[in-house]
Amino acid sequence: MFILLRDGSGLLQCTVRREAIENELYRTLENLPLESALELSGMIREDGRAPGGWELSVSGTGAIYPAKADYPLVKKEHGVEFLADNRHIYVRDLRLQNIFQIRAKFMEAARDWFRDQGYTETQSPSFMTASVEGGSTLFNVEYFERKGVYLTQSWQLYAEAMISSLGKIYTIAPSFRAEPHRTRRHLSEFWHLEVEEPWTDLAGIMRTGDALVTHIAHTLANEIPEKVRRVGRDPSMLLKLDAPFPRISYDEAVELVQGEGVEMLWGDDFGWQQEGPLTRKFDSPFWVIGFPSGIKPFYHMPDPDRAEVTMSGDLMAPEGYGEIIGGGQRVHNYDQLLQRIHDDGLDPDNYSWYMDLRRWGTVPHSGFGLGVERVIMWMLGLEHIRDTIPFPRDMRRVFP
Ligand code: 4AD
Ligand code: MG
Repeated sequence: MFILLRDGSGLLQCTVRREAIENELYRTLENLPLESALELSGMIREDGRAPGGWELSVSGTGAIYPAKADYPLVKKEHGVEFLADNRHIYVRDLRLQNIFQIRAKFMEAARDWFRDQGYTETQSPSFMTASVEGGSTLFNVEYFERKGVYLTQSWQLYAEAMISSLGKIYTIAPSFRAEPHRTRRHLSEFWHLEVEEPWTDLAGIMRTGDALVTHIAHTLANEIPEKVRRVGRDPSMLLKLDAPFPRISYDEAVELVQGEGVEMLWGDDFGWQQEGPLTRKFDSPFWVIGFPSGIKPFYHMPDPDRAEVTMSGDLMAPEGYGEIIGGGQRVHNYDQLLQRIHDDGLDPDNYSWYMDLRRWGTVPHSGFGLGVERVIMWMLGLEHIRDTIPFPRDMRRVFP
């Protein structure tokens, strides 16, 4: 009898010979339903043909926790909805296990890089009274008697306060977006890797993004190539990524999109339809810089040489994956910031503390936010963002 045993490290094939154990125990094991949990002991030996490369010849058992007999995930193919309804047990699936292990390595590689480069990790609150990325994707929260409290879209405003305490900083934390559409790349709760640096301009913060993304890609390819391959991605694609990534202006990007026969006017933001043809023109990530102020939030610094565009940069992933990083240089001048807040139709009272940062100890500074799930999706060549995170949240699903 063969038993396939799974734990957090992978699979182990176990062989139980009838003559090796007592009859009654053999019958107990034989009748155990799928997904029963148990301890086995015996002799282990290497076996290239066995899944995981090892085989255990069972000579005894420890604790046994029999499962109920009707484990729901037995068929080879289940519908997407059914799997989503059973996500709490579907996370045991070997393909998902493998992706979640890669995700863990991703986080580890990012933190290693930040530590080596002298950044300090810090945290910001999730309850906010002001929007960072525009009001349309804010989640309202019932916060005692207080009106106008939202879940954070980004740590950025607090990060700009914290650079005066800690210098170069980063965080990896959930951000929330009330995304009103269901797409393959939007979650309503995603993990946001964000960076903020004093004394840094747009070019400087793009260098940070280049180095961070290539470090993570190379770490996955070098340290866990077999896991990357198991998802269906050739690790050499990650290894050949090389900083600095190409840079094109927003104006050039619009022309490229128009050249593909896709509708877009100067001043429009890139949607899925525009990013597809644009990103298929590249085989590495590339920066689009200098977005019009009309499509970027109030905190982006206007280009001193060309007021209608901002010192902003979005990193786009190739193969149709699209935006993975959004960032740029911040307005550090008080009057200019007040003007931008007015122009965006925002209430300055909601930003009074943020404005204070421009009164005392202001310096040029820049930062960005990287969507962890977006980057994993692209690095692994996945069809859908949902498989990059154990319990995805989107417009239609907050359960299980
Ligand atoms: O471009 P965004 O909105 O930029 C900001 O929030 C800045 N305040 C960040 C900063 O400068 N500190 O979001 C940053 C990134 C996007 O490029 C994308 O990768 C990811 O966050 N993202 C999402 N990922 C999954 N689902 C969503 N609904 C996402 N919205 C943004
Ligand atoms: Mg963006």
